[in-house]
Amino acid sequence: MERIGIIGVGEIGRAIVMGLRHGGDELPEVFLSPRGADTAAELSERYEGVRVCADNQAVVDRSEVVIIAVRRQDRHDALAGVRVDDDKIVVNVMAGVGNDDLRQTLATGAPLTRAIPLPAIRERRSVTVVYPSHPRVNSFFERLGGALPVADEAAFNVFSALTGTLTTHYWYLATLTSWAAGHGIASEDADRYVRSLFQGVGRALSDNSRSLHQLAADHETPGGNNERIRTTWFDPASSEALTSALDALLRDLT
Ligand SMILES: NC(=O)c1ccc[n+]([C@@H]2O[C@H](COP(=O)([O-])OP(=O)(O)OC[C@H]3O[C@@H](n4cnc5c(N)ncnc54)[C@H](OP(=O)(O)O)[C@@H]3O)[C@@H](O)[C@H]2O)c1
Repeated sequence: MERIGIIGVGEIGRAIVMGLRHGGDELPEVFLSPRGADTAAELSERYEGVRVCADNQAVVDRSEVVIIAVRRQDRHDALAGVRVDDDKIVVNVMAGVGNDDLRQTLATGAPLTRAIPLPAIRERRSVTVVYPSHPRVNSFFERLGGALPVADEAAFNVFSALTGTLTTHYWYLATLTSWAAGHGIASEDADRYVRSLFQGVGRALSDNSRSLHQLAADHETPGGNNERIRTTWFDPASSEALTSALDALLRDLT
């Protein structure tokens, strides 16, 4: 049976465990670090074959694939003195931590692969970017919604920057809701309506036969309200501001 270890059991560690237990296929054994204690305890009580280890070294020793999911600033503390034999496979999900950096910390010859799992992995609904490609890591994320191996670390960083835009999307929706509430609409009605509008938009995205520009055109009458907001608010200046913010983020990630 496959043995997966996770060091750092927070949001993303939990999402990985839930994703692994989401389907009815053969389930790997999962070994968790003792921190974060509450989440690790909850997961081990809830799922068979999920165990909490005494320390981070025990997680590595009991696993074939070890996922490092602590915050970037905690990595030295979490990994200091931890021995990782060359026959292990290490998956680095820490944003902004390159494999060279992690290899120095771990002083191991084991294969290291970076990955960007997102919370929707818990329902096996998101594609995970990986670099460098590794057959075991690719098939691990394939099972959790899809793997997208990329050619080099520069490409990996571009995808990483894209993931930095998610919460802006929620704030955009929250701003629409507040605007409607400011015009006297009950907040719960505005909230319900905005969610329903954009759930429909989200569903349309699963139609891969239509490009994003075609999907926009599908929802837009020439000279109509959508065209008006798109061209008066999301004008070339806003588009340029977004592009510049992404470029600046990419520079920091590189
Ligand atoms: N959340 C996302 O959507 C997402 C997506 C992609 C990548 N990531 C990356 O995944 C990593 C974790 O993010 P997260 O959102 O899951 O953060 P989080 O919820 O804060 O979880 C981090 C976990 O690491 C634990 N930890 C701290 N020091 C540790 C140590 N010495 N040994 C073992 N565990 C330790 C913390 O435990 P305590 O609670 O005990 O402090 C906490 O449970 C980050 O590097 C982030 O960049 C996150």
